[in-house]
Amino acid sequence: MSTTIESLSALSETADFLPILGTDYIEFYVGNAKQAAYFYQHAFGFQPLAYRGLETGYREAASYVLRQGKVTFVLTTPYHPGNFIADHIYRHGDGVRVLALTVEDAAQAFEETTKRSGKAFLTPTRLEDEYGYVVLSGIHTYGDTVHIFVERKNYRGAFLPGFTGWNGFGRSEPVGFKYVDHCVGNVYLGEMLQFVTFYREVMGFKQLVSFDDKDISTEYSALMSKVMANGNGYIKFPINEPAQGRRKSQIEEYLEYYHGQGVQHVALAVEDIIYAVRELRRRGVEFLETPKAYYETLLDRVGKIDEPIEVLAELGILVDRDDEGYLLQIFTRPVQDRPTVFYEIIQRKGAKSFGKGNFKALFEAIEREQARRGNL
Ligand code: FE2
Repeated sequence: MSTTIESLSALSETADFLPILGTDYIEFYVGNAKQAAYFYQHAFGFQPLAYRGLETGYREAASYVLRQGKVTFVLTTPYHPGNFIADHIYRHGDGVRVLALTVEDAAQAFEETTKRSGKAFLTPTRLEDEYGYVVLSGIHTYGDTVHIFVERKNYRGAFLPGFTGWNGFGRSEPVGFKYVDHCVGNVYLGEMLQFVTFYREVMGFKQLVSFDDKDISTEYSALMSKVMANGNGYIKFPINEPAQGRRKSQIEEYLEYYHGQGVQHVALAVEDIIYAVRELRRRGVEFLETPKAYYETLLDRVGKIDEPIEVLAELGILVDRDDEGYLLQIFTRPVQDRPTVFYEIIQRKGAKSFGKGNFKALFEAIEREQARRGNL
């Protein structure tokens, strides 16, 4: 086992050439943004925030912006074929195009990253309307995924210039999402180190935790994963690559159906996971099943916890412990027909890790579903 843990306080002592204030938004390219917006509003409890499209004079694509806590999703679909958005959807299905990060200075973020060999996506661009101005810039990361740096300290509008207010589709209640805990990328076999190096050299991130395939392997599937975190620890990007297993791993299945490297899952933090999961289930959100046997040995693995085991078992919530505390987590099924992007719901009670102890139980659950799809 090759586990190394570097504390967040140690990370913050090093000079940070790319100060990041938080996750600004996550943009998905989807086949039907209107229906996706309905899903995120009513199933996940996001609240309507902004819109851009034909009615606002934008003729390329429609975008719906929804927010819950500090989590902002943008759902975009093109009006016509023969453009990058349409091609992205044709190739990847619904998926994440943009992981946007809030910065103090988007021009500086662009300069610091591109001079360290980050591949330019968007040169610093100023957008303004009656609510002020923003500066956006961006670089490429794995696959067709990009990071956009958003400088919004001089902007008071709801989202970005060009967007208008939007009332959504009726009323929906939040489920308690607070912020984006982490976003995981799947990359090709043998390319994990290339992207670990990218986050370290180009973006100034540090490796937070690593575990090799012996930690997280099952009979059929395995993966290797390294977690990259920025200077203040707000932004965490684990990178997965497939490892040798007897059969096709879940990472390979993703890469095959996404037709490329991309975002595998977004983890959303909540303060009351029992409430959130009960509510999400009631609204029809599908979760991976957790074997009942998992709960028989749970207390032996994690020690005393505040939550009643029978409630966790009823809802399928997983628990893991590290040196600093414990965490509760659960994973949805993919939220589109392709077995690609899914969500993690996570409640941290001191633990700063990612549920390594649950990987085996989780993978076994994922593999049962892969087998059902004939992909194992
Ligand atoms: Fe995760």
